[in-house]
Parts: sequence; structure tokens; C-alpha cells
Amino acid sequence: MTKASQRRPRAPAARERATGVLGLTSLPAWNALEKHHDRIKDLNLRQLFAEDPKRGETLAVEMAGIYLDYSKNRITPETLQLLNQLARESGLKERIEAMFRGDKINVSENRAVLHVALRAPPGASIMHDGHNVVPEVHAVLDRMAEFADRVRGGAWKGHTGKRIRNVINIGIGGSDLGPVMAYEALKHYSDRRIRFRFVSNIDGTDFAEAVRDLDPEETLIIVSSKTFTTLETMTNARTARTWSLSGLKGDESAIARHFVAVSTNAQEVAEFGIDTANMFGFWDWVGGRYSMDSAIGLSTMLAIGPDKFRAMLDGFREMDEHFRSAPFERNLPVLMGLLAVWYNNFFGAQTVAVLPYEQYLKRFPAYLQQLTMESNGKHVAINGARLNYDTGPIYWGEPGTNGQHSFYQLIHQGTRLIPCDFIAFVRTLNPLARHHDMLLANVFAQTEALAFGKTAAEVQAEGTPDWLVPHRVFEGNRPSNTLLVETLTPAALGKLVALYEHSVFTQGAIWRVNSFDQWGVELGKALAQRIIPELESAKEPELRHDSSTNALIRRYRKLRGRSDALAGSRTSRGG
Ligand code: F6P
Repeated sequence: MTKASQRRPRAPAARERATGVLGLTSLPAWNALEKHHDRIKDLNLRQLFAEDPKRGETLAVEMAGIYLDYSKNRITPETLQLLNQLARESGLKERIEAMFRGDKINVSENRAVLHVALRAPPGASIMHDGHNVVPEVHAVLDRMAEFADRVRGGAWKGHTGKRIRNVINIGIGGSDLGPVMAYEALKHYSDRRIRFRFVSNIDGTDFAEAVRDLDPEETLIIVSSKTFTTLETMTNARTARTWSLSGLKGDESAIARHFVAVSTNAQEVAEFGIDTANMFGFWDWVGGRYSMDSAIGLSTMLAIGPDKFRAMLDGFREMDEHFRSAPFERNLPVLMGLLAVWYNNFFGAQTVAVLPYEQYLKRFPAYLQQLTMESNGKHVAINGARLNYDTGPIYWGEPGTNGQHSFYQLIHQGTRLIPCDFIAFVRTLNPLARHHDMLLANVFAQTEALAFGKTAAEVQAEGTPDWLVPHRVFEGNRPSNTLLVETLTPAALGKLVALYEHSVFTQGAIWRVNSFDQWGVELGKALAQRIIPELESAKEPELRHDSSTNALIRRYRKLRGRSDALAGSRTSRGG
């Protein structure tokens, strides 16, 4: 690994002071961490383990069936102490309390951030704008449960009297990624008599492929959208309506038996033509990417049933309580969040790989991409000041062992530092011959190989010709966390998701960003709305984009036979 990739240049604290921005890089802990990093950046995990034979046991923490081994990180006890100091100086404890208290910490949208209320027990009290939201949460859960029981039990029938055998969730972003991830993760517990499909992309192929073998008479469509205005979802919902009606002899009254909505926007739901009696609500204090345990999880509840859905919520709640009460030194989300900051800001690592060794978690990395990057992909602080340090790293990953036969090469021998989270389960839900022992052997082997590598001397000792030795050397010192969980149950999934939610919170608190808005998605949405009529108009539109965008639009129109490419305005922005 090159030194350059280990450490990116950082702007001096003086610049931060000059711009009047925050105080992160001026904090005593930050400065101490910089000096500490300079001292220990070349320390090798081989050495760290040799010096402390118990390291693998002491740098580990367990919380209700989730064991985090963080010993294979490039840290010393001093690193941990300084990272904890950074958390304290950054007011992490106060930020956590502000979230649980219902303060409007999403300042750019003037909203509270209360996804933790979605899993609060019935008797709890969480106040928002002067009233306790917990009873409302449970009222919706009860309605969802009643509906799910009727569909699963066959009491809820389609318009023509047929049982519901297919459920399609239409949504995008948080209204899709959570539901599809949870469905895949908990498929083992699902009612296999019902087929579940998830449609998100505005690309018509997504819808066409989802319904090609389905009968509208047996299909229930859940339109999931917090705002009920999202272009993709509303377009797919309209197409679904047409598809459904065409299979139900155009009878409009059929809609009530085949469409339900999950939204915060009753008015738009009604305008779309879904009876609000068939709407399951949630609230503006639930962010889209934090909503899989709200009514947005209706498809999950339909799949696994209300009891298992509640068990999943219990898992979320256990992690919430741990995050709120455990000392930072033994707090899983805080530890993982601080380690992410350590590599991001002090080693200049640009990405984090999430590697679940569990086929059921195949959509977990995609889910985490929205959770982490929509939350912390921010270039300004909560007060609007431009930041002069890096924020959210790129999260990516694939289930093991598949990734081992593709991108792991780069993790092992590339020039970049890629901290990895390995996620594994002690017990498999599908015990087949020796598969599970082999799977887990691969998890342990990978973290061992990444940490300790193989030296030139070791390669030579195997009789490798000299010219080949450099190619076969593993430098090691590649950091990883291992999350070892007992079994993939609904509760375990809840704990795992909450763990990452709160790790993201921890990172955002250190970086002083608003982890709960997502203005970065707006510009593209607005421009697309402007371009749609330019693509569709029969008459050559007057194009006022840059010359590249204009040319692309003209070419598209020409190839679609919509106009003479040479006609129309040549007015361009930027040439
Ligand atoms: O793409 C931005 C976004 O607002 C996400 O944050 C959200 O999860 C997604 O769109 C879907 O929004 P909605 O649920 O309102 O359709």
C-alpha cells in the first residue's frame, strides 16, 4: 500500500478558523489524533497482536447476541481513548439525547428524527410537538397486523373473489430498499404461498418483468411513498393501475381490493384514487432511509406475519437502548462509527466494504448504501459552512464468498486501504452438508489473511522462485471488523439495521453534518422534469442546456424519429 493512499493531506486548522467553520479540526482530541496517527500509522497488526496475546479477546464486545470483534483494526488503546474523547468533545452524548427527546435535529427540514419511536414499547412516551407519538405508532402497527392477518389468512380477497397470491411493493429509495432487503433477509420466515415482487425503477422493464407471470386478480399492490409525489413511484403506480384494471375488466371499484398505500400524504393518496381507509400512515419525523420498521414495512409484515415483525422491532429497540445507555467504550454503534471516522479522516480511506457471509443478506449492502451515503454524503456542516475535511465514505459490498472470487484481490493486494465489515452467523437457516463450516472458515480466513498477510520470507520458504515472490506477497495490515451473530432471526436483523443506523448517527455527529436531509437528490430530479417534455414534444423544443446536454437530447429525439436533428434552437448554456 502506498503511503500516499494511507494519508491524504488535510487543511490546517488555521484555514478552518479563517472560514469560521465549526471546530472539529481544532478540537484537542482531533489534534491529538493527528499526532497519534503520525506515530502509529506504520504499526503493523502482526506486531500489535504479538505484543498483546489477549488482544483478540479484549478488543471485542458483545451485545444481546451480536459479537463485535474489532481487534483487527489499526488501533491501540490510546487510539480508542482519543476517539472516545473526540466523541465527547463533539457532544455525541447530547446529540443522542436530542434525537431520543424529539428535538428537531434535522434543521434544514425543521423536523425531529424519531425512527426510534417506531420501535418503542406500547407504554413508552416519546414526545413530539407536545404529544406522545407512541400510541399512534402502535395504532398503525395494529392496523397493519389486522390487514396482514386477513391477507395471509385468505379473508382479504381480490375483487373477483380470488385469494391474494402476489404482493408487489412499488416504491423507491427508502420506500424500496428497506422492504426488499428485509424480505430477502427474512425470506426463510416468509409465507411461501405469497410471491413478493419489488418495483422501483422508472425503467418500464422493472414493472414489466415483475408482473409478466402474475394474475391481476390475485395481486395486491402496495404503493409505498412517504411523499406520494415521487416520479418513479407515481409513474409505476399509474402503470400498475392500468395493468390491474385491464385484468379486472376495467372495473374501477376493483381498485379498493387491489391497491393499498403507505404514505404520510393522505391528500395525494386520495387524489391518486386509493381510499384512505386502505392507507397506512407514518410521519414526517421518519426519514425515508430510516423507515423500514414503519408502515413502509407492510410488505415485510405480509411476508413474515405480525408476530415476527414485532420481534424485529424488539431487536431494533434493544440496539436503541444499548446505543443510548452503554458507555462509549462498549457501545457497538459508537465503536463502529468512530472506527469509520478514524479510517476516513486519518488514514484517508475512501470506502468501507460490507461483506455479509449470509446469502439472505444479499441486498444488505445496497440497503446500507442509501442509509450511509444519503445520510452522511454532505459537504456542508449543519450550520451551512463548507467543510474542509472528508465526510461519508463510500459503502459497498457483496455477499461472501462470491466477492472473494472478484474484488477481494484489490482489498488484499491493491494500493488502497479498504476497511471491511464482515458479517457472519453462527447457525445457518439451511444446514446442508458441510456448507456452513466452510462458509465460516472463509470469513475467519479472510480477516486473518487481510490482517496478517504473508511476508516475502514466508513466500520464499515455500520454494517460490525469486522473481515470483513480490507477486505472492500479502502485505497484510488491512483492517476489518467481524460481526458474529447467533442466527439470522427477525430480531437479529432489527439489531443489525439499528447498529448501522446509529453508527451513521455517530459519524454524522462527529462530522457536524445533518444526517437526515438529502438535498443532493433534488437538482437531478428538477432537471429531469424539465427534460421530459423536451424529449416528448412533437415539435422541436427550444433547448437551453449546455452543448453536451443539447446534443444528447437532439440525438435521442432524432433516433426516436421525433424531429430533424438540425431543427430547433442552437442556444446553449456554456457553449
Ligand atoms: O431520492 C430521495 C428520496 O427522497 C429518498 O430519501 C427517499 O427514500 C426516496 O426518495 C423515496 O421517497 P418517497 O418515499 O417520498 O417516494
